[in-house]
Amino acid sequence: MRIGLLNGGGDCPGLNAVTHGVVGAAAQLGWEVVGFRDGFEGLLPPGDFKILDPEKARGIIRQGGTILGTTNHGHFSSKHGSGEVARIPEELMNQARSTLTNLGVDALICVGGDGTLTTALQFSEEGFPIIGVPKTIDNDLKATAMTFGFDSATQTVVDALDRLQTTASSHKRVMILEVMGRHAGWIALYGGIGGGANVILLPEIPFRFEEVARVIREREISGLHSTLIVVAEGAAPEGGVQMIEAASVDGEYRLGGIGDRVAAELQRITGKDSRSCTLGHLQRGGSPTSFDRVLGTRFGVHAVKLIEQGKFGRMVSYQRYHVGSVTIAEAVSQLNLVDPEGEVVETARSVGISFGD
Ligand code: F6P
Repeated sequence: MRIGLLNGGGDCPGLNAVTHGVVGAAAQLGWEVVGFRDGFEGLLPPGDFKILDPEKARGIIRQGGTILGTTNHGHFSSKHGSGEVARIPEELMNQARSTLTNLGVDALICVGGDGTLTTALQFSEEGFPIIGVPKTIDNDLKATAMTFGFDSATQTVVDALDRLQTTASSHKRVMILEVMGRHAGWIALYGGIGGGANVILLPEIPFRFEEVARVIREREISGLHSTLIVVAEGAAPEGGVQMIEAASVDGEYRLGGIGDRVAAELQRITGKDSRSCTLGHLQRGGSPTSFDRVLGTRFGVHAVKLIEQGKFGRMVSYQRYHVGSVTIAEAVSQLNLVDPEGEVVETARSVGISFGD
């Protein structure tokens, strides 16, 4: 048995832990693993790949990034702009399939987010044995309670807030930290609670500048002269739209810029010195946390088990502390967004965190 493995979309801490899990479990079955470079691009003839034996996977569990490389654009992008699905041209599908057949690959594990899994679904619909593994720091896939990478990204937000707090306090400033997450506010919510933010602004809860300014003034009156605000890159004021930092030729766009806008508006309204800091790709880099190392390994091992059981067209999923699986079709159909009335938001409100609403 020969199985293929690829990483698609943006990288995230824990990708190598999945590879470590796949290679380890496959070796125990006597299977060989073919690792394709740069996501689906590695499937273009004649195939860009390396054979992954346990020797090559040694020690990678602690490494950030991906030893296979990845891309979030290229020939096999099937999601554009605000999520419209495009069919991968038949010609490309045939080329990829012939690479897999020529290399004798019996099944392919695709590790990725929404976009990669949408492409994986098209391969699966055309009859190729595919297993999906969910990956994203954004934690925005409905079919899994948690994706690996999210915990590491959140830890980076918490570390940044710990540092921003000391300088905010020294200068009696309002400090705004813009974090990733695209249309989901999970990183901002968990990072903000863990890092002791006073205000968290999420895509799921439209905010009002006046309300955030009121919180700052109220803190001022009670002798608290600095305020820590976390804003998700996809957050927008009531009646406003998300801020786009850049659009690319294939219709994909990058969110960004809301942190600077919030700082400027709050300084204008309150007269208080305000600064913004964008955490950016620091959230995607570096070593995975212990949680992500373990979850990634479990996902990798389970993906191999699904192949062994012949359960193709399925995505590994984490539910109620157990790793199981759902259909890939189910996985890509719904985004996992923060519930504004949910328990985590309620918890934040209970400890005095404002959402600016
Ligand atoms: O989906 C992961 C993510 O990091 C988002 O949070 C962010 O909006 C986007 O990718 C950034 O993508 P890029 O690496 O192309 O700048």
